[in-house]
Amino acid sequence: MNDAQPLQRQPVVDLVDRLGEGDDHRGEAAGCEDFWGIADAARIGGHLGKHAFEEENAVYPAMRGVGMTAEADDLNRDHGYVKQYLYDLADLIGDHVSFQSKLAVFRKDIEKHMAEEETKLFPKLKTSLGKAANQALKHRMTKEGMKLS
Ligand SMILES: [Fe+2]
Repeated sequence: MNDAQPLQRQPVVDLVDRLGEGDDHRGEAAGCEDFWGIADAARIGGHLGKHAFEEENAVYPAMRGVGMTAEADDLNRDHGYVKQYLYDLADLIGDHVSFQSKLAVFRKDIEKHMAEEETKLFPKLKTSLGKAANQALKHRMTKEGMKLS
């Protein structure tokens, strides 16, 4: 996984923060409820969906292949809960306090997930794989990502 990119942290976190700010970058009066289901939410879903697809179809299986099964299963579980957050947030439209509270927990969880991947688990996987296997995994991730293009 030499040059494989984990989820690009800042764009997703920035989008989540924009949802929480509830200011209007479209020039209309808007709160988080108005943002939801529009551009930012769609972009978050797109970023996270592609990220999840690449990792679940390439990286996590590679992790299991080198004995990191429990770690891969935990990360896969996190992805499931990201979808749960998005589902729950959609149901909180109109309840500003609950929406903000859920959003804060969501942000914290995705940051933890990304930090664990970037600083601990992906470097461990990279070390476990040889140069050729890292390169093969990178290509496999790219191939998976292209399926969504
Ligand atoms: Fe992930």
